[in-house]
Amino acid sequence: MENQGYSVFPPFIGDRLPRLEVHTTLGNRVLPDDYEGRWFMLFSHPGDFTPVCTTEFVSFAKNQEAFQQLNCELIGLSIDTVFAHMKWIEWVQNRLGVSITFPIIADELGNNSRRLGMLPREGYKRTVRSVFFVDPNGFIRLILTYPDELGRNTSELLRALKGLQTADANRVAMPANWPNNEIIGDQVIIPPANTVMKARERLEAAQAQEIECLDWWFCYKDLPNRKETD
Ligand code: BEZ
Repeated sequence: MENQGYSVFPPFIGDRLPRLEVHTTLGNRVLPDDYEGRWFMLFSHPGDFTPVCTTEFVSFAKNQEAFQQLNCELIGLSIDTVFAHMKWIEWVQNRLGVSITFPIIADELGNNSRRLGMLPREGYKRTVRSVFFVDPNGFIRLILTYPDELGRNTSELLRALKGLQTADANRVAMPANWPNNEIIGDQVIIPPANTVMKARERLEAAQAQEIECLDWWFCYKDLPNRKETD
C-alpha cells in the first residue's frame, strides 16, 4: 500500500512517524525504525548557506552532547543536495570551528518534507523551520513550526525534551515555564481527576499532605530525585 496504512495528510502529535527512507550526509537511514529505542529531534531548515540556519546549526551542534545525554539524536533536513550540505558544514568547520556531526537529510524532491508538512504549499521552494520530537517507539510527541525570520531556541528544545521524558516517567504534566513556574515552582501537575471518586481521593491525599491542591482539578506535587540541573 502506497502510504503503508498512514494518513496521507501531514502527521500530528500522537501519530507514528510515517516510514521515511532518507539520504543523509552520513548515508541512508530509515525513519523511525533506525532510531528505535532512542528519541530523535528531526528538524528542517530553509536552506544551506543562510545565516539564521547557520546560527541554529552551530547551536544544535554545541548542544548535541546534552541531547545525547537525554538519549536523543539530532537529524537535520532541507531540500538542498547532499553536496550542498557537505560544502556548508565544511564552511562551518573552517570558518566557525564547529563540527556538524549529526546527519542532514537531502530531500531534493521535497517528498519527505511534503509528507511531514514542512513545505507550506505546493511549489514552495524551501522548508520552514520545523521540529519533530519522536519518542523511542517512533511516535511524534511534539511539533513546532518557526518562520524564516526566527531562529529556534535550543534551551527551549532541551527543556521540552526533558519535560516530555519527565512526564512519561512520572505520569505527570509539566506547567508553564517548568521548572520555574510562577505558581508552583518546580513542582509538577497531577493529571486532573476525571471522576467524582478520583476528585475525592485527590482531596483526601491533599489533606494527608501527600500532594498539594488548589482545587480538586488542580493538584501538584514534588518530584523525588529531581536533579538541580533540570
Ligand atoms: C536564514 O536562515 O538566514 C534565512 C533563511 C531563509 C530566509 C531568510 C533567512
